[in-house]
Amino acid sequence: MENGAIKRLYNSKEILFLVFILLISLVSIFGIMLLNSQRHYEATVLNEKIFETVTSFNRLKIMTNDLRHSDSPIVDYQMWLYFREKFSQALMATMDDPQLALELERYGSSDILPSIRTNWELMNRKMGEVDSQIFSAGEEYHLAVNNLYVIMSNSFERQLNSLYESFIVNSRKALLLFNRITVATVFLSVLVLILSLLLITNRMSHVQADLDSKRLEARDATINALAYQAELRDDETGKHIERTALYIELLAREMAKYSEYANYLGEEYISDLKISAPLHDIGKVGISDNILLKPGPLSDEEFEIMKTHPLLGAKSLRRVEASLGFSSFLELAIELIESHHEKWDGTGYPYGLKGQTIPLSGRLMALADVYDALSSERVYKSAFPHSKCVEIIRSQEGAHFDPQIVEAFLAVEKEFEKISLSMKDG
Ligand SMILES: [Fe+2]
Ligand SMILES: [Fe+2]
Repeated sequence: MENGAIKRLYNSKEILFLVFILLISLVSIFGIMLLNSQRHYEATVLNEKIFETVTSFNRLKIMTNDLRHSDSPIVDYQMWLYFREKFSQALMATMDDPQLALELERYGSSDILPSIRTNWELMNRKMGEVDSQIFSAGEEYHLAVNNLYVIMSNSFERQLNSLYESFIVNSRKALLLFNRITVATVFLSVLVLILSLLLITNRMSHVQADLDSKRLEARDATINALAYQAELRDDETGKHIERTALYIELLAREMAKYSEYANYLGEEYISDLKISAPLHDIGKVGISDNILLKPGPLSDEEFEIMKTHPLLGAKSLRRVEASLGFSSFLELAIELIESHHEKWDGTGYPYGLKGQTIPLSGRLMALADVYDALSSERVYKSAFPHSKCVEIIRSQEGAHFDPQIVEAFLAVEKEFEKISLSMKDG
């Protein structure tokens, strides 16, 4: 059962889906990082070359300014044409640099150069169309070709700055945008991964809960079958096991109010106790009919045989424990079966345990079992009224029963009476 459950979980489609998502995310993150480092390299190489171009262009500007002997930033149209031509030549030289082409080719990005060249040629032509108007009217004119832009104006400084920005700042902006896209993609991948994990964890917990409830159903069915089998052999009816389960639960809940038992008697323990109770006489299956069903009192020898039923029951459940995995519950059931005939003063059986050495489950079961025997009809006796049952139990405080459990019983005896009246035999 346990192995089956684990196998089912590990073979589930959810696991495959998780692995798939994980792989996709890792591959995309790795791919994006690789692409990013390549783009970064491209941008660096290109930036350096273009920066060289612009620097030489600036140097040219200073030289010509000196020649003009003028502080005015305004240049005439002819001078502008001259600089534009120089810049274009410098840029083309950069584009034609075999070293740059080779380096970009190494990274599979040689297509960058033709696109810059095409853009520049287009830009240059457009500038030619508006140049003369700008210089005569003293206006500004913004030109944009793909990712290049130039502000045409009669301010020479402005023209140069816009040319510079067009190549350097724009390529940096593009890089920044690319980085943002990378970060966003990585972020999204991680988000998808986390969401998938949450989804799968949630799904798996549902599968686990489903398996747990099926396991509990199977357990309860097994226990009912075992308990019923024991009852079939006895003269007691099925109501005895139902009532004692309710009595032991009542007692346990009352005992849980005592500080020394508060931690021990948790919900799980009480539920296990309630499920174990019906099995207390399972060992009677091993007692022969002539002893078990004898109408009169048992002889000493017969009683000795009868006294083996707690050990027989515990033994048969240990065999079940070896093949099933409900260990926490079975341990408690075995303990309860083995000790339900022990007495507080040490005169019980099978081991003659005394006081607190008797497991709590056995001490609780003893009272529940005896109350039910007293308050219901048996072949050898009629049912005692509730008050008489209470009196007998009170008289056995410290003898048959744990004084604290008797105290708990007295606190809830009215509840015992209600159960006894509402679940009568027959
Ligand atoms: Fe018993
Ligand atoms: Fe019983």
